[in-house]
Amino acid sequence: MLSIVIVGFLIGACTANFEKLLPDASICGYQNINELKQNYVSLYEFPWMVHVKLTYLDLEYEFAERCSGVLISERYVLTNAYCGSDAVKVILGEYQTNESRTCHGSICTEPKKEIKIEEFIRDGKRENGPYDFGLLRLQEKVTFSDFIKPICLNFNEKKLSKELIVSGWGASNSHGVVKKRMEYKVIPDEICYQEEQFLKNNVELANVSFICSISKNTNKESACGGDHGGPFMYKSDSNQWFAEGVIIEVMYDEDDTNHFNTCSKERPINGIRITDNVIEWILSSIRS
Ligand SMILES: *[C@@H]1O[C@H](CO)[C@@H](O)[C@H](O)[C@H]1NC(C)=O
Ligand SMILES: *[C@@H]1O[C@H](CO)[C@@H](O)[C@H](O)[C@H]1NC(C)=O
Repeated sequence: MLSIVIVGFLIGACTANFEKLLPDASICGYQNINELKQNYVSLYEFPWMVHVKLTYLDLEYEFAERCSGVLISERYVLTNAYCGSDAVKVILGEYQTNESRTCHGSICTEPKKEIKIEEFIRDGKRENGPYDFGLLRLQEKVTFSDFIKPICLNFNEKKLSKELIVSGWGASNSHGVVKKRMEYKVIPDEICYQEEQFLKNNVELANVSFICSISKNTNKESACGGDHGGPFMYKSDSNQWFAEGVIIEVMYDEDDTNHFNTCSKERPINGIRITDNVIEWILSSIRS
């Protein structure tokens, strides 16, 4: 009897904790679909996408070290540890990299918002591997709007999604980039392992749930190096979006010598999955 009371209390305390710090399920993952477009991303699409900047300056070549992440609460952005460890600020509500706000006819985004990073938190358990998550605590809380909203994390038993959507502002040059929408299909891990020496070893060292995926994208967009840290996401039957994982690596053609930040639609991209123990780490790391 006592143990039932204690277990009940613990579950209650846990739920109360994340409900206080993460958005509740009636807010996260919903986007305004008034202007949903087939061929390009609408102004309202993926309002949880965050451009993670590794420098304070708006440098011409910044595209080469661009990173992405997702807003998961009023105060925290989830990305990968590589992007997070060098991040200095984030841009929220961004649609196109070279414009402060964008209009389509009479609909305009709000001006994008820059916030400095107060703290970088890394999942300590994976300190020795390149395959690791990072959390960014923002210097101030953000106010949610049609253009800035959190994505959901899945607290329940997951069935792994075979088809995932990827977004970001990755590019191979410094021209303005519109937020991208790309469809990927999960393929066996071995296909990624064959592409790169040491990859399997790195994944095993990091003890993570690996995502290997290939484009099944029908629009012109390609994944590029600058999409690192962004989400693998899916939409639930109730039109609510969830983050399934984080992009770690965009593989590109070896013979493409134009620039190190090349893009490819033909080669896999890979990442790490947000498993229950990753969610536990997030819940134990965030504070109000
Ligand atoms: C932003 O970049 C795009 C693509 O390079 C270009 O067409 C557009 O005119 C640019 N906008 C501004 C405000 O410079
Ligand atoms: C790997 O991670 C799982 C949880 O996902 C954990 O149970 C296990 O102990 C970890 N193994 C090592 C060697 O750290």
